[in-house]
Amino acid sequence: MHRRILTPGVLAAASVLLAIPASAASGAPGAPGIGDPYYPAYGNGGYDVSHYDLRLQYQPATDELAGTATILARTTEDLSSFDLDFLLDVSEVRVNGATASFAASGEHELVVTPQKPLPKGTPVTVVVRYSGVPSTKSAYGFSTWHRTPDGAVAADEPESAWWWFPSNDHPLDKATYDVSVAVPDGTQAISGGTLQSTTSRLGWTRYNWRQNKPQATYLATLALGRFDVTTGTSEGGIPVVNAYSKDLGDDDGAARASVERTGEIVDWLSGYFGPYPFGSAGGYVPNTTTGFALETQTRVYYSPRQFAGGSNTSVVVHELAHQWYGDSVSLKGWKDIWLNEGFARYAQWLWSEHEGEGTARELADYVYASHPADDAFWTVKPGDPGADKQFDIAVYDRGALAVQALRDEIGDEAFFAVLKGWPQKYAYGNADIADFRAYAEQVSGKPLGALFDTWLFQPSKPAAPAALAKAAAPAQPRSWKKIAATNDLHVQER
Ligand code: ARG
Ligand code: ZN
Repeated sequence: MHRRILTPGVLAAASVLLAIPASAASGAPGAPGIGDPYYPAYGNGGYDVSHYDLRLQYQPATDELAGTATILARTTEDLSSFDLDFLLDVSEVRVNGATASFAASGEHELVVTPQKPLPKGTPVTVVVRYSGVPSTKSAYGFSTWHRTPDGAVAADEPESAWWWFPSNDHPLDKATYDVSVAVPDGTQAISGGTLQSTTSRLGWTRYNWRQNKPQATYLATLALGRFDVTTGTSEGGIPVVNAYSKDLGDDDGAARASVERTGEIVDWLSGYFGPYPFGSAGGYVPNTTTGFALETQTRVYYSPRQFAGGSNTSVVVHELAHQWYGDSVSLKGWKDIWLNEGFARYAQWLWSEHEGEGTARELADYVYASHPADDAFWTVKPGDPGADKQFDIAVYDRGALAVQALRDEIGDEAFFAVLKGWPQKYAYGNADIADFRAYAEQVSGKPLGALFDTWLFQPSKPAAPAALAKAAAPAQPRSWKKIAATNDLHVQER
């Protein structure tokens, strides 16, 4: 489900086709990247995945993961070969039933060459049989497979799929998922969507999860370990499934006091963003030592450290806001990260206001005032921060200031119409900042080029918003300490 973009590979493929007689045209290799300038090797060219079926087995004692991925895709070019992004050890690949040759290449490419070239626009079924110990694999010198005392977790951004399933690893190619994982009896396997069934035999329990709405690869998650699972339904009717490691120690109470409010917060966010886009909600708290949280689709990943200072509903609001801003509406390229983080942070400000801990206006004024003009904070452009600054605090805080600036410019009525209309307009798809600007201009009837340029694309502190210029130095809101702590954890290094 991705839009085609011209990558060097696509251009090369086109020129190869021009150079040889049409009758001999047999396709060219698909590009090893989908064409994202921040991450040139991420994703692949030449095909579009519609569904991943993962049937796996995991042994926590040894961190061995084995199984089969069946990928349903459609070619978007004539292909002599194509790539998947993957790190584990592959023993067999089949394309449309026939064995295909395969070879590892680059940092995380698996090049698959079918016996016969694949014509453009045809359905393809790819079966990849594999095994491996994910914790022993790395690319670019890092690993995002998080081992825990009783298992492991796959959750990170933008890289997490390579360690557990072969994919077209970029948000432009969203797909539905069936994730089926067998673990030793007594261990749970947690993933996104709904638990369709569990089966037990020979000392192994198999958990069958289904994500029936399009999902970006980095939003697919897998947690293996010993969990307490809670289930319920929000007042608005959304089924909620949460899971807590049995081993959270002192953080257990604060984790539950926060994540058990998922249903309430999903319903509250629906008031701003429109109907919740998915068939279930929830979160899980594994016993990892990582610091961040991640908006994994329908089942949010929370590090226990998010709750080390006490309950933290703000982070729950942030990750659940992403279900609309980031998960249902995904970015087109990683440069568009503001569409995720600016709005998830702004949702935290709205929640602070709801909790009586400082209004969005007060928080915006405080953030604006707390960074002097020569602070490096203002050199980060939230609209195009660069890969190395993708999760810089400025993407979040300056990003939310840009949202407040939009609100100031177009007024509350148009602003809240945009906030609610956007997730419907691009539901389950992809969009970029230019699309957002066009939509906000359409809804408000105002030209917004200068506003977006000032708040998102200039490496300097914008002039004070009109409202702020009138106000005296804002008092520090009561919630500020907690929000600041949350910020730190949001940009935690892996
Ligand atoms: N989207 C995540 C959040 O703000 C950011 C995670 C970044 N950290 C990382 N280690 N990848 O909720
Ligand atoms: Zn976020």
